[in-house]
Amino acid sequence: MENSCKVGGNNNFIFKLVINSLPVGLFVFDKLGHIIEVNPAAETLCGYSRDELLGKCCGEMGDGLFDMIAPGEDEDTYNRSEDTGAEVREAILIKKDGERIPVLYFDAALKDEDDHICGLVKMFRDIAAEKKMRKKHKILISMFAHDLKAPVAIAGGFLSRLLMGKAGELNEKQKNYLTVINNELKKLDNHIHSFLDVLRMEAGEIKLSLEKCSMEKIIYDVVNEFQERAASKDIRLSVNVPEQNILVMVDREQIQRVFVNLVDNAIKYSQPHTEVRILIEDHDRYVVCKVMDRGPGIPEEDLPHIFDPFFRAASQERTEDTSDGTGIGLAVVKSIVEAHNGRVWVNSTVGKGTTFFFSIPKVADDGPGNSDK
Ligand SMILES: Nc1ncnc2c1ncn2[C@@H]1O[C@H](COP(=O)(O)OP(=O)(O)OP(=O)(O)O)[C@@H](O)[C@H]1O
Ligand SMILES: [Mg+2]
Repeated sequence: MENSCKVGGNNNFIFKLVINSLPVGLFVFDKLGHIIEVNPAAETLCGYSRDELLGKCCGEMGDGLFDMIAPGEDEDTYNRSEDTGAEVREAILIKKDGERIPVLYFDAALKDEDDHICGLVKMFRDIAAEKKMRKKHKILISMFAHDLKAPVAIAGGFLSRLLMGKAGELNEKQKNYLTVINNELKKLDNHIHSFLDVLRMEAGEIKLSLEKCSMEKIIYDVVNEFQERAASKDIRLSVNVPEQNILVMVDREQIQRVFVNLVDNAIKYSQPHTEVRILIEDHDRYVVCKVMDRGPGIPEEDLPHIFDPFFRAASQERTEDTSDGTGIGLAVVKSIVEAHNGRVWVNSTVGKGTTFFFSIPKVADDGPGNSDK
């Protein structure tokens, strides 16, 4: 068997020191997929000794060493390094004793002196502890948000009674102050509900009420709601839909919420006298919606985080318009689109503008396989 890249036989002292000290499991494969080198961290990670691993293919190890097919539970950890082009993915690694542990891994091509690919390097990191911690964190936050609901509702009830004069006549100043408090409390209540919705949707607890809807109708209902606000900033709000009416099986209210959040952001973050465009593309089995603005754009380093709950781009200049968001809108968008087996993504250039895209299958049971867009 031809193998021009015998790393296993290499006695290079520094090389050995480096790979032995790496805090991640390193597996080196030849072109045919045989393991030709591992480091001690890899042995610890999978429970097999170096001797048991060398010369084997992954599939030959017990239940199969790496269950690469099984995607991780948490898509958030799915990243692409812009520098190296390497994709960091989550997978399940099956240990010698059958235990399945979540890992992050990335692949890099192994090249010989002539720059020919002669194998592959895979590096793995155990993320079981991190995942446990993240889960605990999430539960704590959701309990906290849940427990906030009752006091906010009770305080709102008493405020309404005060405003109705049920505890005595109020003067104008008192009325104004209480109205401000009441409005802020309503905002807080909305944020708590949105956040809990995100968590419940992620956990699959919210059932969608699917019905056949006209995409055009959904969009125009939202656009009508925003016309006045757009006009107040002299922003032209335009819609471009195909001539043929597109019918989709969706939860109307939730998809409206997606558009509301995207259009709200587009208007909020745009400078006055610009344009916000909503475009719909009809692709045989799915529909792609775009919300485009000529606003400030989102800095590249913030792009991987903008769909995280409570994330707001710190480097963006805040104006009166944009200072009081909570960073929950895009998390809501993502969870709703994904609950419809769709996908949401963004293109943004600082100084030029931002386009948010989402795609959803036209028929509900189309599955997440709408990946050809
Ligand atoms: N169209 C856009 N142009 C520029 N930046 C944007 C745009 N949309 C979102 N962002 C950035 O992404 C962050 C997250 O957006 P998101 O809608 O989740 O929260 P928000 O608008 O700050 O608050 P809210 O919870 O009220 O929606 C924003 O704070 C902003 O920094
Ligand atoms: Mg928003």
